[in-house]
Amino acid sequence: HCSAKLTPIILLLLDITPMLPVLEGVVMELQDCALPLLKEIIPTDKEEVAFKDLDAAILVGSMPRKEGMERKDLLKANVAIFKNQGAALDKYAKKTVKVLVVGNPANTNCLVAAKSAPSIPKENFSCLTRLDHNRARSQVAMRCGIPATQVKNVIIWGNHSSTQYPDVHHCKVNMSGSELTCFDAIKDDDWLKGDFITTVQQRGAAVIKARKLSSAMSAAKAICDHMRDIWSGTHEGEFTSMGVYSTGNSYGVPEDLIYSFPVQIQNKTWKIVDSLAINDFSKSKMDATAAELVEERDTAVAFLGV
Ligand code: LMR
Repeated sequence: HCSAKLTPIILLLLDITPMLPVLEGVVMELQDCALPLLKEIIPTDKEEVAFKDLDAAILVGSMPRKEGMERKDLLKANVAIFKNQGAALDKYAKKTVKVLVVGNPANTNCLVAAKSAPSIPKENFSCLTRLDHNRARSQVAMRCGIPATQVKNVIIWGNHSSTQYPDVHHCKVNMSGSELTCFDAIKDDDWLKGDFITTVQQRGAAVIKARKLSSAMSAAKAICDHMRDIWSGTHEGEFTSMGVYSTGNSYGVPEDLIYSFPVQIQNKTWKIVDSLAINDFSKSKMDATAAELVEERDTAVAFLGV
């Protein structure tokens, strides 16, 4: 876990031309953080500068859904954006680049970017479900009255949307020195199979309702967690959740989707945790979120060809 801690970073910040003065404010704030490992900051509106020789790309810019907009309209606008970003990665970035897609709909945007960067391995692309993973972990911890560090191996399956399935069947809770299953620790199966799931599924919307803005701090923290785990690996006996490319060989999830799975990471390479027992309750929820992703993909792919 030392290498990532000591790696100096050059930040390339890309935005559209009219936003450059605002970006300058972000640069000032970054400078004012006096971050020990931040070596250089390069703000730009040029793709050939922003994507050149990248080791890591965090794609946060997407078209947010506005009032009266259909899901399809949103997808169409985002297919154009992520096709472009994938092509720029393909052209300018290192072939070893690790790409994290955050902008919504994150899974499908990630798939579009991966498909638009044929010279970069699909395994190098992932989308953010760590925010949902952290939300699930924290909900369990709060319910038990313990720190989130004492809760491990929650799973987020599927789409970063309200169909996602936060699963605690393999979660372990450390309470007063003993390790319990989540069901034994919480002793309220109805909550775990009901309100817990909907709370995590709806959390993004609840934050928007309260803040009048979508999550920022928690999303930024989740991005750091995700990237740190890619660079440093996951802890022994623990897994995390990431949207990754499905080859159709795990848990009956269709191929050619970016689907959130439990993963373990070593040497900057993720592996799906493959042998977990799945009951019927879980299976139906995993299938429902897969079905939504298939629909999103088919709509997006139709736009890709246009
Ligand atoms: C979140 O999970 O907080 C965001 O993805 C919500 C959103 O729609 O921006």
